Amino acid sequence: MIVGVPKEIYPKERRVALVPAVIPTLKKAGMDVLVEAGAGIEAGYPDTEYVEKGARLTASRAELFQAADIVVQFLCHGANDKTGSADLALMRKGQAVVGFLRPLGTVKTLQEIADRGVTSFSVELMPRTTRAQSMDALSSMATICGYKAVVVAADTLPRMFPMLTTAAGTIAPARALIIGAGVAGLQAIATARRLGAVASAYDMRPAAKEQVQSLGGRFVELAIEAKDAQDARGYGRAQDESFYQKQRELLGKTVAESDVVITAAVIPGKKSPVLVTKEMVAKMAPGSVIVDLAAERGGNCELTKPDEIIVEHNVTIIGEFNLAATVPYHASSLYARNISAFLLHLVKEGKVQLDMNDEIIRETLVTRDGEVVSARVREFFGLPTAAAKV
Ligand SMILES: NC(=O)c1ccc[n+]([C@@H]2O[C@H](COP(=O)([O-])OP(=O)(O)OC[C@H]3O[C@@H](n4cnc5c(N)ncnc54)[C@H](O)[C@@H]3O)[C@@H](O)[C@H]2O)c1
Repeated sequence: MIVGVPKEIYPKERRVALVPAVIPTLKKAGMDVLVEAGAGIEAGYPDTEYVEKGARLTASRAELFQAADIVVQFLCHGANDKTGSADLALMRKGQAVVGFLRPLGTVKTLQEIADRGVTSFSVELMPRTTRAQSMDALSSMATICGYKAVVVAADTLPRMFPMLTTAAGTIAPARALIIGAGVAGLQAIATARRLGAVASAYDMRPAAKEQVQSLGGRFVELAIEAKDAQDARGYGRAQDESFYQKQRELLGKTVAESDVVITAAVIPGKKSPVLVTKEMVAKMAPGSVIVDLAAERGGNCELTKPDEIIVEHNVTIIGEFNLAATVPYHASSLYARNISAFLLHLVKEGKVQLDMNDEIIRETLVTRDGEVVSARVREFFGLPTAAAKV
């Protein structure tokens, strides 16, 4: 069983799907690891470290795809919407591919993978269960995004974060507001607090209140209640426009009083709700910063420009995508542990085991036998039930 690790090819992507530290565990389970030369160097993992841990190297991407029974990637075709299609021609029938596939993006890219005869698994579809926790790549990346959002905000803000008493006077602490207290939001609260800011947070899920408070954040209570705020998978549920309208009205004052606003309110597969309008931005103090972690799905701030940093009304609005990729060493190390836990689950006795009674396999499997077989994906796109035996 050969596991192939190609170099990531999305522009400026510096992460790598497996790091040297996980290779001995995979080898012990009967998996050989083949790495494209230079795949880890930009994340801080030179080729020599892979070889020391027992991996083999190849200079040829085509050879890697040819030899690998399972290809593990960060951004597969679909999630890599710029250059990912180049890998389609290299994929071969019977091969398995594991990584980010953006399964609720467009069904076309998934069908293209299916057409290659590839069995693909999407890490985005990992169930949120205790059993699958070690394989939860979305949480790993969200943790990093939450941390980095605060670091970027602190670097951009013309103020310091902590309260200081000096001979030259007292400096008041920065006020950070986090909207959407999921994994990224909670990490943002923790990081903002460590830097000395006063952190407040709001989430429409009532369960978030206790989590925010346990991190030393103040929970912003709004006189509005979401209907079924949380779905069975633990994700926020989309609300109607009148709910969002009311949220904006109630959040206005808190946003205006904040030096930093980090928005991380997303709904899987849906456009992100606009929670910070241009009028709200205009009321913020000059020099304030908004980091919009929902930018890739339209953004929580009305003025966010996709993948850009802009200044409007003297407020810097950061809409950069994929902040996790800017911390490639730890993003790769967490992802590698998620992926190796998944591989150890998937490969038994030297073979990929497609046990459809296993929730982890059933939920993450996207394509098989030339077809998009994921029930969740098919339902999302309104496709009839798959013909393949799942
Ligand atoms: N294995 C597990 O059990 C597991 C794994 C990961 C996350 N979780 C939990 O699931 C929850 C969601 O985590 P996530 O980071 O994946 O969420 P997410 O990235 O899908 O969404 C981020 C947050 O935005 C909030 N949100 C969406 N629309 C909003 C709106 N209009 N106003 C205010 N808030 C809004 C959501 O409630 C959510 O908390 C968290 O409680 C997390 O701890 C559990």
